[in-house]
Amino acid sequence: MPRAIRRATAGVATLAAAGLIAVTAPTALAAPSPTLAAPDIPLANVKAHLTQFQSIATANGGNRAHGRPGYKASIDYAKAKLDAAGFTTTVQQFTSSGATGYNLIADWPGGDPNKVLMAGAHLDSVTSGPGINDNGSGSAGVLETALAVSRAQLQPTKHLRFAWWGAEELGLIGSKYYVNNLPATERSKVSGYLNFDMIGSPNPGYFVYDDDPTIEKTFKDFYAGLNVPTEIETEGDGRSDHASFKNVGIPVGGLFTGASRTKSSAQAQKWGGTAGQAFDRCYHSSCDTTANINDTALDRNSDAIAHAVWTLGTETPVPPGDSYENTTDVAIPDNGAAVTSTVNVTGRTGNAPATLKADVDIRHTWRGDVVVDLLAPDGTAYRLKNSSSNDSADNVIATYTVNASSEAANGAWKLRVQDVAAQDTGYINSWKLTF
Ligand code: TRP
Ligand code: ZN
Ligand code: CA
Repeated sequence: MPRAIRRATAGVATLAAAGLIAVTAPTALAAPSPTLAAPDIPLANVKAHLTQFQSIATANGGNRAHGRPGYKASIDYAKAKLDAAGFTTTVQQFTSSGATGYNLIADWPGGDPNKVLMAGAHLDSVTSGPGINDNGSGSAGVLETALAVSRAQLQPTKHLRFAWWGAEELGLIGSKYYVNNLPATERSKVSGYLNFDMIGSPNPGYFVYDDDPTIEKTFKDFYAGLNVPTEIETEGDGRSDHASFKNVGIPVGGLFTGASRTKSSAQAQKWGGTAGQAFDRCYHSSCDTTANINDTALDRNSDAIAHAVWTLGTETPVPPGDSYENTTDVAIPDNGAAVTSTVNVTGRTGNAPATLKADVDIRHTWRGDVVVDLLAPDGTAYRLKNSSSNDSADNVIATYTVNASSEAANGAWKLRVQDVAAQDTGYINSWKLTF
């Protein structure tokens, strides 16, 4: 549609030079830190648990398998540590292949009983060996994280529950039993289950389960902080206890350093270790001893468990009135592609309010050209402003109220702006979300 009046197009620099607008340097906002930082998990403590698991196997016919005395001795060892640290422990019995099996559950008193964060590992080995990487490693990492919760006397927002599963090697028997015997109302309170099965492989890869996006991001952020690349876990989805939880709709995630698959040369290049060799050459065999552990992998993954428990367990809702702003200018191309500006909300639970406010400051010489949307972290678009061919006024400086109550507060929120008509242009000057 032709326009009656058209002003000469002025760029940002021209407008600024003419004194029509003020161009300020973008301000760096201090990131809010709603979650508590996790402690470093001492590798020596994790390895001391492995030494105990090895001794238990050695004293009990060389394994810690379901139905064998080495399994129950492993349960007793972990339970004694947890009881002394102030956990409320429960040993859950079940029967499989004619033998009694045991799950160990340890609850840390406190936190929201309606939001339970679980972390677990299978404690049984196969009969052929002591099972130190598979899965003394995950068992020890989870145990030492629980003990660190006690040392810190952590007061998490979520209720924390740690678990050690029996008879995983017979087909996820213990974790299935736990989930099947959890009443539906209790199941619905479990906001996440974190699984650790084989986290110290001697020729390690750094694999993150590709499941719940929030949990996955929590682990990826940890590894990004270490500058260690990760890959998505693909060596058998559903081959460990997280599958029991995932099957009933509970969000899951976890870490893995690889089993019998071969490390590629690309993987050896980025992670070190030996290309053309299995991540764990002693997988399910008698040589899965304390010698079958890569200390660096075990150390990093133990710290990653603590990071996830602290991050996901201590996150809080966004306090009403908190705001998040981006003041970096973003040029809006004339009659071109949409551009976005992001604000990151991190460490938060719960949904955005029904009265989420978006303060928008877009400088433009013909605001009728401009279409503005607010994008929630999941990509849902909320139209803030349509284009209109006869709105020739300058700038979009306005506060919009959005009912965002169906959107998770946490994540990357974007202001999306598109200029849909030729000639006039502008830029996003700043925008702010207020919860
Ligand atoms: N849980 C398997 C076992 O004990 C090992 C395994 C294979 C695994 N693939 C996996 C564990 C993927 C976690 C994720 O034999
Ligand atoms: Zn195994
Ligand atoms: Ca235009």
